[in-house]
Amino acid sequence: MAKILGGITTSHIPAVGNAIANGLQEDPYWKPFFDAYPPIHEWLAKVKPDVVINIYNDHGLGFFLDQMPTFAIGAAHEYKNEDEGWGLKPLPPFPGDAKMSWHIIEGMVKQEFDITSCQELAVDHGFTVPMQLFWPGLGDNPDMPRAIPISANTVQHPIPTLKRALDFGKALRKSIESYPDDVKVVVLGTGGLSHQLDGERAGFINKEFDLMCMEKIVSDPEALTKISRHELVRQAGAQGTEFLMWMMMRGALGDNVKLLNQNYHIPISNTGAGTMLLECV
Ligand code: DHB
Ligand code: FE
Repeated sequence: MAKILGGITTSHIPAVGNAIANGLQEDPYWKPFFDAYPPIHEWLAKVKPDVVINIYNDHGLGFFLDQMPTFAIGAAHEYKNEDEGWGLKPLPPFPGDAKMSWHIIEGMVKQEFDITSCQELAVDHGFTVPMQLFWPGLGDNPDMPRAIPISANTVQHPIPTLKRALDFGKALRKSIESYPDDVKVVVLGTGGLSHQLDGERAGFINKEFDLMCMEKIVSDPEALTKISRHELVRQAGAQGTEFLMWMMMRGALGDNVKLLNQNYHIPISNTGAGTMLLECV
Protein backbone atom coordinates (compact mmCIF):
# COMPACT_ATOMS: atom_id res chain seq x y z
CA MET A 1 0.00 0.00 0.00
CA ALA A 2 1.12 3.56 -0.65
CA LYS A 3 2.23 5.50 2.43
CA ILE A 4 2.45 9.27 2.90
CA LEU A 5 5.65 10.09 4.77
CA GLY A 6 5.18 13.81 5.16
CA GLY A 7 4.80 17.17 3.52
CA ILE A 8 7.11 20.02 2.62
CA THR A 9 6.25 23.61 1.79
CA THR A 10 8.36 26.20 0.04
CA SER A 11 7.99 29.42 -1.88
CA HIS A 12 8.64 28.94 -5.61
CA ILE A 13 10.01 32.38 -6.53
CA PRO A 14 11.58 32.32 -10.05
CA ALA A 15 14.59 34.34 -8.81
CA VAL A 16 15.45 31.30 -6.64
CA GLY A 17 15.84 29.24 -9.84
CA ASN A 18 18.25 31.83 -11.21
CA ALA A 19 20.16 31.89 -7.90
CA ILE A 20 20.56 28.09 -8.15
CA ALA A 21 21.68 28.36 -11.80
CA ASN A 22 24.29 30.94 -10.77
CA GLY A 23 25.45 29.10 -7.62
CA LEU A 24 24.51 31.96 -5.27
CA GLN A 25 23.51 29.80 -2.26
CA GLU A 26 26.28 31.31 -0.05
CA ASP A 27 25.72 34.90 -1.19
CA PRO A 28 24.68 37.09 1.82
CA TYR A 29 21.29 37.93 0.26
CA TRP A 30 20.46 34.28 -0.46
CA LYS A 31 22.11 32.38 2.41
CA PRO A 32 19.32 32.89 5.01
CA PHE A 33 16.88 31.45 2.47
CA PHE A 34 18.97 28.51 1.27
CA ASP A 35 19.95 27.56 4.85
CA ALA A 36 16.42 26.13 5.22
CA TYR A 37 17.10 23.28 2.78
CA PRO A 38 20.02 21.10 4.08
CA PRO A 39 17.89 19.66 6.97
CA ILE A 40 15.21 18.79 4.39
CA HIS A 41 17.83 17.11 2.15
CA GLU A 42 18.90 15.02 5.15
CA TRP A 43 15.33 13.94 5.85
CA LEU A 44 14.71 13.08 2.19
CA ALA A 45 17.97 11.08 2.05
CA LYS A 46 16.75 9.14 5.09
CA VAL A 47 13.14 8.43 4.03
CA LYS A 48 13.73 8.20 0.24
CA PRO A 49 10.27 8.81 -1.26
CA ASP A 50 9.45 7.02 -4.54
CA VAL A 51 6.83 9.56 -5.61
CA VAL A 52 6.42 13.29 -5.04
CA ILE A 53 2.96 14.84 -5.33
CA ASN A 54 3.84 18.41 -6.28
CA ILE A 55 0.90 20.73 -5.49
CA TYR A 56 1.51 24.07 -7.15
CA ASN A 57 -0.39 26.77 -8.99
CA ASP A 58 0.22 27.19 -12.67
CA HIS A 59 0.98 30.84 -13.58
CA GLY A 60 0.04 30.80 -17.29
CA LEU A 61 2.30 28.17 -18.84
CA GLY A 62 0.11 25.07 -18.60
CA PHE A 63 -3.22 26.94 -18.51
CA PHE A 64 -4.19 30.48 -19.39
CA LEU A 65 -7.17 32.70 -18.58
CA ASP A 66 -9.14 31.27 -21.52
CA GLN A 67 -9.15 27.79 -19.95
CA MET A 68 -8.64 27.65 -16.20
CA PRO A 69 -9.27 24.38 -14.36
CA THR A 70 -10.01 24.75 -10.65
CA PHE A 71 -8.15 21.50 -9.91
CA ALA A 72 -5.95 19.71 -12.47
CA ILE A 73 -3.95 16.51 -12.02
CA GLY A 74 -1.15 15.37 -14.32
CA ALA A 75 -1.55 11.90 -15.84
CA ALA A 76 1.49 11.87 -18.09
CA HIS A 77 4.60 9.70 -18.28
CA GLU A 78 6.70 12.87 -18.19
CA TYR A 79 6.25 16.61 -17.74
CA LYS A 80 7.95 19.24 -19.82
CA ASN A 81 9.12 22.65 -18.66
CA GLU A 82 9.30 25.66 -20.99
CA ASP A 83 10.64 29.20 -21.06
CA GLU A 84 8.22 31.49 -19.18
CA GLY A 85 10.10 34.73 -19.69
CA TRP A 86 11.69 34.89 -16.21
CA GLY A 87 15.18 34.15 -17.60
CA LEU A 88 15.01 30.60 -16.27
CA LYS A 89 16.71 28.03 -18.49
CA PRO A 90 14.22 25.26 -19.46
CA LEU A 91 14.96 21.97 -17.67
CA PRO A 92 14.87 18.39 -18.97
CA PRO A 93 11.46 16.62 -18.64
CA PHE A 94 10.41 15.29 -15.23
CA PRO A 95 9.51 11.57 -15.07
CA GLY A 96 5.88 10.95 -14.00
CA ASP A 97 3.87 7.96 -12.78
CA ALA A 98 0.81 7.76 -15.04
CA LYS A 99 -0.51 4.60 -13.41
CA MET A 100 -0.60 6.19 -9.96
CA SER A 101 -1.97 9.45 -11.40
CA TRP A 102 -4.99 7.66 -12.85
CA HIS A 103 -5.60 5.89 -9.55
CA ILE A 104 -5.57 9.26 -7.77
CA ILE A 105 -7.82 10.91 -10.35
CA GLU A 106 -10.30 8.05 -10.05
CA GLY A 107 -10.19 8.29 -6.25
CA MET A 108 -10.80 12.04 -6.33
CA VAL A 109 -13.77 11.81 -8.72
CA LYS A 110 -15.23 9.00 -6.60
CA GLN A 111 -15.09 11.42 -3.65
CA GLU A 112 -16.89 14.01 -5.81
CA PHE A 113 -13.96 16.26 -6.69
CA ASP A 114 -14.31 17.09 -10.39
CA ILE A 115 -10.81 16.93 -11.79
CA THR A 116 -9.26 18.08 -15.06
CA SER A 117 -6.98 15.19 -16.06
CA CYS A 118 -3.91 16.21 -18.07
CA GLN A 119 -2.16 13.66 -20.25
CA GLU A 120 0.11 16.50 -21.32
CA LEU A 121 1.12 19.31 -19.01
CA ALA A 122 3.87 21.90 -19.24
CA VAL A 123 5.06 22.60 -15.68
CA ASP A 124 6.15 26.11 -14.70
CA HIS A 125 8.37 27.59 -11.96
CA GLY A 126 5.76 26.77 -9.31
CA PHE A 127 6.62 23.11 -9.92
CA THR A 128 10.25 23.23 -11.08
CA VAL A 129 11.86 25.57 -8.52
CA PRO A 130 10.77 23.39 -5.55
CA MET A 131 12.00 20.26 -7.37
CA GLN A 132 15.40 21.94 -7.77
CA LEU A 133 15.42 23.04 -4.12
CA PHE A 134 14.61 19.60 -2.74
CA TRP A 135 16.48 17.39 -5.25
CA PRO A 136 19.53 19.39 -6.35
CA GLY A 137 20.77 18.15 -9.70
CA LEU A 138 17.32 16.77 -10.61
CA GLY A 139 17.89 13.93 -13.14
CA ASP A 140 21.51 13.60 -11.97
CA ASN A 141 20.29 13.12 -8.40
CA PRO A 142 19.79 9.35 -7.90
CA ASP A 143 17.11 10.04 -5.27
CA MET A 144 14.82 12.18 -7.44
CA PRO A 145 11.33 10.63 -7.22
CA ARG A 146 8.72 10.26 -9.95
CA ALA A 147 6.45 13.32 -9.92
CA ILE A 148 2.70 13.83 -10.05
CA PRO A 149 1.78 17.50 -10.53
CA ILE A 150 -1.45 18.90 -9.10
CA SER A 151 -2.34 22.48 -10.00
CA ALA A 152 -5.10 24.60 -8.50
CA ASN A 153 -6.42 27.93 -9.71
CA THR A 154 -5.15 30.84 -7.62
CA VAL A 155 -5.08 33.23 -10.54
CA GLN A 156 -8.58 33.94 -11.81
CA HIS A 157 -11.76 34.55 -9.80
CA PRO A 158 -13.41 32.40 -8.49
CA ILE A 159 -10.58 30.57 -6.73
CA PRO A 160 -11.31 27.70 -4.31
CA THR A 161 -11.97 28.43 -0.64
CA LEU A 162 -9.47 27.46 2.06
CA LYS A 163 -11.93 24.85 3.28
CA ARG A 164 -12.19 23.34 -0.19
CA ALA A 165 -8.39 23.23 -0.42
CA LEU A 166 -8.09 21.41 2.92
CA ASP A 167 -10.89 19.02 1.94
CA PHE A 168 -9.16 18.36 -1.38
CA GLY A 169 -6.06 17.31 0.56
CA LYS A 170 -8.10 14.99 2.80
CA ALA A 171 -9.61 13.29 -0.27
CA LEU A 172 -6.15 13.13 -1.82
CA ARG A 173 -4.89 11.27 1.25
CA LYS A 174 -7.60 8.62 0.83
CA SER A 175 -6.88 8.34 -2.90
CA ILE A 176 -3.16 7.84 -2.25
CA GLU A 177 -3.58 5.41 0.62
CA SER A 178 -5.87 3.17 -1.45
CA TYR A 179 -3.14 2.67 -4.06
CA PRO A 180 -2.12 -1.00 -3.82
CA ASP A 181 1.58 -0.67 -4.71
CA ASP A 182 4.18 -0.18 -1.97
CA VAL A 183 5.27 3.37 -2.74
CA LYS A 184 6.50 6.00 -0.32
CA VAL A 185 5.02 9.41 -1.03
CA VAL A 186 5.93 12.96 -0.08
CA VAL A 187 3.54 15.87 -0.74
CA LEU A 188 4.72 19.38 -1.61
CA GLY A 189 2.74 22.59 -1.17
CA THR A 190 4.47 25.33 -3.15
CA GLY A 191 3.97 29.08 -3.31
CA GLY A 192 3.32 31.86 -0.84
CA LEU A 193 3.58 33.14 1.62
CA SER A 194 2.38 36.77 1.46
CA HIS A 195 3.16 38.62 -1.74
CA GLN A 196 1.62 40.95 -4.27
CA LEU A 197 3.40 41.45 -7.58
CA ASP A 198 1.25 44.14 -9.17
CA GLY A 199 -1.17 47.01 -8.58
CA GLU A 200 -1.19 49.62 -5.84
CA ARG A 201 -0.02 47.19 -3.17
CA ALA A 202 2.90 45.74 -5.20
CA GLY A 203 5.59 44.62 -2.76
CA PHE A 204 3.08 44.04 0.06
CA ILE A 205 4.27 41.46 2.66
CA ASN A 206 2.52 40.61 5.96
CA LYS A 207 4.94 38.87 8.34
CA GLU A 208 2.48 38.64 11.22
CA PHE A 209 -0.14 36.90 9.08
CA ASP A 210 2.46 34.56 7.53
CA LEU A 211 3.74 33.46 10.95
CA MET A 212 0.18 32.89 12.17
CA CYS A 213 -0.49 30.68 9.11
CA MET A 214 2.74 28.72 9.72
CA GLU A 215 1.72 28.07 13.32
CA LYS A 216 -1.91 27.14 12.64
CA ILE A 217 -1.19 24.91 9.67
CA VAL A 218 0.62 22.55 12.03
CA SER A 219 -1.70 22.55 15.02
CA ASP A 220 -5.13 23.67 13.79
CA PRO A 221 -5.55 23.88 10.00
CA GLU A 222 -9.35 23.82 10.45
CA ALA A 223 -9.11 27.29 12.05
CA LEU A 224 -7.61 28.64 8.83
CA THR A 225 -10.68 27.51 6.85
CA LYS A 226 -12.58 30.37 8.55
CA ILE A 227 -10.57 32.89 6.53
CA SER A 228 -12.57 34.04 3.50
CA ARG A 229 -10.93 34.40 0.11
CA HIS A 230 -11.30 38.19 0.22
CA GLU A 231 -9.70 38.28 3.66
CA LEU A 232 -6.86 36.08 2.37
CA VAL A 233 -6.14 38.56 -0.43
CA ARG A 234 -6.39 41.47 2.05
CA GLN A 235 -4.01 39.85 4.53
CA ALA A 236 -1.60 38.00 2.21
CA GLY A 237 -1.71 40.03 -1.02
CA ALA A 238 -3.13 39.08 -4.42
CA GLN A 239 -0.57 36.29 -4.93
CA GLY A 240 -0.71 35.26 -1.27
CA THR A 241 -3.64 33.11 -2.43
CA GLU A 242 -0.93 30.53 -3.13
CA PHE A 243 -1.38 29.57 0.53
CA LEU A 244 -4.20 27.40 -0.81
CA MET A 245 -1.47 24.98 -1.99
CA TRP A 246 -0.22 24.67 1.57
CA MET A 247 -3.74 23.85 2.75
CA MET A 248 -4.11 21.15 0.09
CA MET A 249 -0.79 19.65 1.18
CA ARG A 250 -1.78 19.81 4.86
CA GLY A 251 -5.06 18.00 4.25
CA ALA A 252 -3.13 15.09 2.74
CA LEU A 253 -1.05 14.59 5.90
CA GLY A 254 -3.86 13.52 8.25
CA ASP A 255 -4.58 14.76 11.75
CA ASN A 256 -1.22 14.22 13.41
CA VAL A 257 1.97 15.76 12.12
CA LYS A 258 5.31 16.57 13.68
CA LEU A 259 7.05 19.80 12.71
CA LEU A 260 10.67 18.85 11.97
CA ASN A 261 11.90 22.11 10.53
CA GLN A 262 10.82 25.59 9.54
CA ASN A 263 12.26 28.80 8.20
CA TYR A 264 10.80 32.22 7.38
CA HIS A 265 12.75 34.92 5.62
CA ILE A 266 11.80 38.29 4.10
CA PRO A 267 12.16 39.52 1.54
CA ILE A 268 13.17 37.16 -1.20
CA SER A 269 12.28 39.07 -4.33
CA ASN A 270 8.75 40.32 -3.45
CA THR A 271 7.76 37.46 -1.20
CA GLY A 272 7.66 36.34 2.43
CA ALA A 273 9.48 33.02 1.94
CA GLY A 274 8.31 30.18 4.18
CA THR A 275 9.68 26.64 4.32
CA MET A 276 8.28 23.83 6.48
CA LEU A 277 8.96 20.13 6.90
CA LEU A 278 6.10 18.13 8.46
CA GLU A 279 6.33 14.42 9.14
CA CYS A 280 3.24 12.21 9.41
CA VAL A 281 3.05 10.47 12.79
C1 DHB B 1 7.52 35.97 -7.26
C2 DHB B 1 6.79 35.10 -6.44
C3 DHB B 1 5.95 34.13 -7.01
O1 DHB B 1 5.19 33.27 -6.29
C4 DHB B 1 5.86 34.01 -8.39
O2 DHB B 1 5.08 33.04 -8.90
C5 DHB B 1 6.57 34.87 -9.21
C6 DHB B 1 7.40 35.85 -8.64
C7 DHB B 1 8.42 37.00 -6.68
O3 DHB B 1 8.38 37.29 -5.48
O4 DHB B 1 9.25 37.54 -7.44
FE1 FE C 1 3.81 32.10 -7.59
